[in-house]
Amino acid sequence: MPPLLRPLATAFALALSLPVLAAECDEQAGQKVFQTKCSACHALDADRVGPHLAGVVGRPVGSVPGFNYSSDLAGAKHEWNAQLIDRWLTAPAQLFPETTMAFSGLRNVEERQAVLCFLQQHS
Ligand code: HEC
Repeated sequence: MPPLLRPLATAFALALSLPVLAAECDEQAGQKVFQTKCSACHALDADRVGPHLAGVVGRPVGSVPGFNYSSDLAGAKHEWNAQLIDRWLTAPAQLFPETTMAFSGLRNVEERQAVLCFLQQHS
């Protein structure tokens, strides 16, 4: 590659690797996704059909005391970081086949990023 193009290629590669960790963050868009797609089952601070989600980024999977998790989530050894949440929200049952989260997934990467950002801001 000609030396002049190298910085461009690097910038492009960086841009490709950023989506999950984007620092830019539109909280209002995230709140809207949360309200339309998640709040039927989740609240930030109370357990409903699903466990409360405030503080979920960095929390061990399946760890809210007293919440009745599926065996997959209860037995998982991971922590919810940005990458794992992104995979989970893309297709929950692909990550944890036994999950009881009856949600087919958010295919739209912008919606996933927005809601992830919203959750990060309520950690
Ligand atoms: C139809 C109800 C429902 C909807 C809609 C739903 N969830 Fe869930 N969610 C659940 C249930 C039930 C669980 C527990 C799953 C299990 O134990 O397998 C869960 C678990 C989770 C967990 C893991 C929490 C933990 O403590 O390990 C996260 C993160 C999560 N949901 C995020 C979301 C987000 C973000 C949305 C919206 C984009 C969403 N969920 C939509 C019901 C739902």
